Amino acid sequence: MTTHQDHEDPTRFWERFYANRDRWSGKPNPALVDEVDALAPGTALDLGCGEGADAIWLAAKGWQVTAVDISAHAIERATEHAWDADLGDAIRWRRHDLSQTFPDGSFDLVSACYLQSPVELPRERVLRDAAAAVAPGGRLVIVAHSAAPTWAEAGKHPWMPTADETLASLELDDELWTLETKREITRPATSPTGEEGTRADIALRLRRD
Ligand SMILES: C[S@@+](CC[C@H](N)C(=O)[O-])C[C@H]1O[C@@H](n2cnc3c(N)ncnc32)[C@H](O)[C@@H]1O
Repeated sequence: MTTHQDHEDPTRFWERFYANRDRWSGKPNPALVDEVDALAPGTALDLGCGEGADAIWLAAKGWQVTAVDISAHAIERATEHAWDADLGDAIRWRRHDLSQTFPDGSFDLVSACYLQSPVELPRERVLRDAAAAVAPGGRLVIVAHSAAPTWAEAGKHPWMPTADETLASLELDDELWTLETKREITRPATSPTGEEGTRADIALRLRRD
């Protein structure tokens, strides 16, 4: 499915998005918290970190975090929030356009929360790169919208895969990976103009053996 924004340059789109935005809640994504809270901390990679709430929560839990986004604007704000929380030392912020470059190394946790875009993003390839960056014994956590919001006009949102479609697109070796969580979540949500509705999300957690 296409939208009118499809051909906008992704860096320009996301820089404009964050320049016009003033909605910092400071709260991590609840589905990420559910999946990670009980894990022993290690190294973590947060892909599409935005303004940093997940990365800051992970750092507060003891993870050594690398957090990546295409938007320099988002990273600048995230860095300030981390220092405000006295966690500046625990997070390495990096600007990457993940369609072009991917952070080096392997990690005990790789998370991609709502790494979705109305403009170009080779998401399936990036998520396969994410799986490849998980260290043995580590986890891949994917949280994502699986449908347009209830208030959306038909055709205005990009295609959003289901949990099974996302799993299939990862092309994982069943001998190497264990699916620990597959959740479909419907939660109340409010549109940017204040309309009440719901959002359908998925949460996946996979362990690399
Ligand atoms: C829907 S937002 C989600 C942000 C954050 N993870 C959250 O849950 O609030 C998608 C994020 O992905 C980032 N992003 C989009 N395309 C990207 C790309 N090609 N490389 C790196 N980050 C990208 C955007 O800048 C944005 O911060």
